[in-house]
Parts: sequence; structure tokens; C-alpha cells
Amino acid sequence: MTVPLTRRILSGVQPSGKLHLGNYFGAIKQHIALQSDGRSFYFLADYHSMTTVQDGRLRRQLTNDAAMDYLALGLDPNKAIFFRQSDVPEVCELAWVLGTVINMGLLERAHSYKDKLAKGFEPSVGLFTYPILMAADILIYRSHVVPVGEDQVQHIEITRDIAEKFNRIYGDVFPLPDHRLEAGAKVPGVDGQKMSKSYGNTIEIFAEGKPLKKSVMGIVTDSTPVEAPKNPETCTVFTLYKLFANADEQRALAERYRAGGMGYGEAKTLLLEKIEGYFGPFREKRKQLANDPAFVEDVLRDGAKKARAEAKLTMDLVRRAVGLG
Ligand code: ADP
Ligand code: TRP
Repeated sequence: MTVPLTRRILSGVQPSGKLHLGNYFGAIKQHIALQSDGRSFYFLADYHSMTTVQDGRLRRQLTNDAAMDYLALGLDPNKAIFFRQSDVPEVCELAWVLGTVINMGLLERAHSYKDKLAKGFEPSVGLFTYPILMAADILIYRSHVVPVGEDQVQHIEITRDIAEKFNRIYGDVFPLPDHRLEAGAKVPGVDGQKMSKSYGNTIEIFAEGKPLKKSVMGIVTDSTPVEAPKNPETCTVFTLYKLFANADEQRALAERYRAGGMGYGEAKTLLLEKIEGYFGPFREKRKQLANDPAFVEDVLRDGAKKARAEAKLTMDLVRRAVGLG
């Protein structure tokens, strides 16, 4: 039953807060770089955001914001299929089907679930079954490659397990997807933990002026005095600086850390300049998009039409294989 497919790349980002440097370096940058490399599908995971955001108006706003961010950063709707997850409701049907072939134990081992519980999130059924919906996202487009940050790798391993088990029981329907990681796979937040929308420790991609300065100056550092030598490798400011700087710049700043005589405030100012220089040019485009909501909506609807057609093809195969309908 397997039909050879062009290499398919797929990924999603939850619109559960403003997109940040972790999302950019861990995911969005690669999504954009890979958009012509095979057939690519990128979506805004608004169903997934329901596990943490329970305000409809806010979700719509955050979804639109994330769409504009992607388009401003270079996502080209003529190259990639770009859409809202919830515009393809078939994915929920596939999630049900997949949930019947896997064991609870597989989900109980998911780090992200345990992390969210530890952070005080309500253990809803949706939060627990989150990886099944994610597997459905990946498998409904019969994806081969999933570019993500390090925190999502386990979810892709779970997806492979589910796909393998499904194929074993019902026959070959799904390719087994692989994750793909890049250098910015684990970006720390201002508190030194993983940067995450749900942890309130982000530096937003499109922040500017005072709020941006406040986030950067608020990065937590140790209390080594200005004169003393410092270790760049354990410093969040330096880790973030490395994402923007070339090898010479990194070496130069590392030497200043080790020599002593430089306060963390100075390193933060250098980082701030880098952030401004890198994202500054995208801001104009972002502002134009904010003035043209109809264009953004058209892009998402057009993307959904294409994605939905693919999803329906897969669901025909699935329904036939499992004996539904
Ligand atoms: P968040 O944790 O902020 O809610 P998401 O879970 O929506 O972000 O993640 C969207 C994409 O961004 C995923 O591919 C994820 O791996 C990546 N990502 C999120 N946070 C980071 C981070 N701190 N470092 C690297 N990649 C990240
Ligand atoms: N769970 C992912 C995250 O929080 C978002 C996501 C949902 C996703 N479905 C996906 C990522 C499918 C890759 C593939 O980042």
C-alpha cells in the first residue's frame, strides 16, 4: 500500500504566548531554511495551546501574532504550506485512532508532561494525551523529517513508536519520521532554565525598545565582582550571544570574560546590540503585515485548503486499513 512520497518536512509551534529566541533558533530559523527542501508543512498548533491557554480571544490573537511573526521572518507561502492546526479537524480523528494502538505507559514517560506538572499546570487529559495529537499532526501528512528543538525529540520518538505499532497491526500506512536538530536546540531563558512561553522567562523576537532592554538586562547572572575573571561557558548572556556572533566575536568576548574587569552589564549591552541588529530588519515587514490582516488570513486559509486535501488522502488510507466507514 505504500506509495513513495517526495521528502516531507513538517513542524508546528504553539501559539501559547509571543514567539521568542528559543522558538526562533530551535525551530523557526530551520523551518524557513528548509522551506524549499522537499514539501514543507508548517502550522500553528492552536489545538495544543488549549492545554495551557484557556482564553479564546487570547488564543486567536496569539495565533495571528505567530502567523505574522513567521511571515515577517521569511516564511514564503508559495514555498511552504502554512496553516492553522484547527483548520484541519481530521487530525483529531487520527489522534483517536492512534490512541487505540498505544499503551498508557508510553505517555506516562513523557518528560514534557512531567515538567508541566512540576510547574503547577493542571493535569488535564489533554495535557496527558498531547503527544498523541502531535503524532497525528506528523503522521496525517505522512512526514519524513520534523525540525524541532531538543525538548520535542522525545515526542518524535513516541510518534515513531506509534507509527511502527500501527503499521504492524494494520499494514504499512505511515513513513517513520526522524527529528532534526540544529545548533540552537536548547536556548536558555533569562533565568537560565529552558526558554519557554509557559515559564515567563523569554526574550521575544519582536520586542523592541524598553521592553527588550528590560528582558536582556534582567538576565540572571552570578555575583562575581566586575574585576574578577568569569566563566563564559556557564553564563546565560554568553550562551545567547553565541547564537548571534561569529567565531571571532565569540572568542573576543570569551577572552574578556576570562580576563576579568568586565561586568555582566557590558556583556548584556553587547547582546542587546546583536539582537537589535539581527531582528531589526524584520520589524518593518512585521508592521506591514499587522496592517493587512486580510492578507494573513488568506495565507492561512489557502494553506489549510492544501493541508486538508493531504490529510484527507491519509485518512482514506487509515479508514480503509482499520475498517472504518
Ligand atoms: P514553548 O516551550 O515556548 O511553548 P513550543 O513548545 O511551542 O515553545 O515550541 C515550538 C518550537 O520551538 C519547538 O520546536 C521547540 O522545540 C522549540 N523551542 C521552544 N523552546 C525552545 C528553547 N528554549 N530552545 C530551543 N528550541 C526551543
Ligand atoms: N508540541 C510542539 C511544541 O510544543 C508543537 C507541535 C505540535 C509540533 N504538533 C507538532 C511540533 C508536530 C512538531 C510536529 O513545540
